[in-house]
Amino acid sequence: MSEMTESDLSTDSYKHGSSGEGSFKKRLGIIATCVVGGSLVALYAVTGPFVAPALRKVCLPFVPATGTQLENVFSVLKGRSGSLVDIGSGDGRIVIAAAKRGFKAVGFELNPWLVWYSRYKAWREGVHHTTSFYISDLWKVSFSEYTNVVIFGVPQMMEQLEVKLQTELQSSAKVVACRFPFPTWTPNDVAGEGIDTVWVYNAKTFKLLIRNDKDSERQEVSLQ
Ligand SMILES: C[S@@+](CC[C@H](N)C(=O)[O-])C[C@H]1O[C@@H](n2cnc3c(N)ncnc32)[C@H](O)[C@@H]1O
Repeated sequence: MSEMTESDLSTDSYKHGSSGEGSFKKRLGIIATCVVGGSLVALYAVTGPFVAPALRKVCLPFVPATGTQLENVFSVLKGRSGSLVDIGSGDGRIVIAAAKRGFKAVGFELNPWLVWYSRYKAWREGVHHTTSFYISDLWKVSFSEYTNVVIFGVPQMMEQLEVKLQTELQSSAKVVACRFPFPTWTPNDVAGEGIDTVWVYNAKTFKLLIRNDKDSERQEVSLQ
């Protein structure tokens, strides 16, 4: 067996050291890429649904109702019962408060994180049997079965929502608009002030508008 020279040893150790160190660096690189990539995916998954409303035609962001706003909603719904829907239910605070007041309450919300959180909060507060939360686009849902309707919207969507509710709701329904009123309906009641103002509309009143429109259309046709 030939003896190893000092230079052989240093070359050998250099070679081994370099490949070991190289594969360690490679593994470290893969781990770092996975961690950064995973974090970006997780960040996108969490923040994406909150940013998405800004990219829609009508931007309706998550802005939770204030405590005073909540009080105003239930003050104008005093004496009412049955079903209640919150259109764009956010973190579920209106639905949960409604369930605590005896309503069978439902929320429709686009953001899945808010829906999962709402379901968890309803379970924690003991109202999961009388609440339901759906991950849904409000424009693709019919509200015809609800007799109490709450909406905290934005001005850009209210006219389109007026038409939708006018055709879908039964005459016994009541609609409560938070912070922004409907543009053409006349409210039957108003409560609160400033950003906590709520406007109340009886379906019986606003459904008359359709009938009046149809009557005047018919009159115009018969006059022609
Ligand atoms: C102003 S926040 C009101 C939240 C809740 N109603 C409250 O008063 O605390 C409006 C909510 O509507 C949701 N939203 C936006 N566009 C929607 C859509 N097309 N369908 C359903 N929900 C939507 C938003 O994610 C947001 O949570």
